[in-house]
Amino acid sequence: MGELMNLQGLILREARREEHAALLAFEQKVIAAERPFNPALKERDAYYYDIEALILSPDSRLVVGEIAGAIVATGYLQIRQSKASLKHERHGYLGFMYVAEQCRGLGVNRLILQDLVRWGERQGIADFYLDVYADNISAVRAYEKFGFQGSVLEMKRSLD
Ligand SMILES: CC(C)(COP(=O)(O)OP(=O)(O)OC[C@H]1O[C@@H](n2cnc3c(N)ncnc32)[C@H](O)[C@@H]1OP(=O)(O)O)[C@@H](O)C(=O)NCCC(=O)NCCS
Repeated sequence: MGELMNLQGLILREARREEHAALLAFEQKVIAAERPFNPALKERDAYYYDIEALILSPDSRLVVGEIAGAIVATGYLQIRQSKASLKHERHGYLGFMYVAEQCRGLGVNRLILQDLVRWGERQGIADFYLDVYADNISAVRAYEKFGFQGSVLEMKRSLD
């Protein structure tokens, strides 16, 4: 799949359990994409997600974008309990946002966000959160375009 693509033939569907190995490879692609933004990320054996739980739990939806039988994009929404101080009891947390390089800029991530937010709405969720590195401009733009706004700013200081 070296050539530029269009969205013809794109299918969005829930990830399947037997795709675990393929999804582990996609997880590593997300980590590789984020490594430039966080020098503290492990060089090896870094993992972000409990993929099995995201597939099996009724409180989460893990979707993949598929073109011609190959996975080209991922994303999940997980329903989480919110802090007791907040007006909403539960919120939706988005993650594992990845689109294969040859499919970027075509609106695939927008379709995945739409799918997940609609699913969340059907579960009674009205508040959606995600974490993104501030320097990950393409991701920040994609989320802002979808209506997300920056909120908490994580600050850190390393002594070594
Ligand atoms: C972030 C990412 C998922 C976006 O996926 P995508 O399918 O290319 O995004 P879309 O085509 O749906 O773009 C939606 C909007 O995002 C913005 N955008 C996307 N890519 C952009 C880029 N390279 N530069 C600037 N803005 C960009 C645009 O405003 C676009 O809207 P437009 O098409 O109306 O101009 C993709 O770039 C990616 O996989 N990056 C590597 C992994 C990663 O960093 N994931 C995020 C972890 S938080």
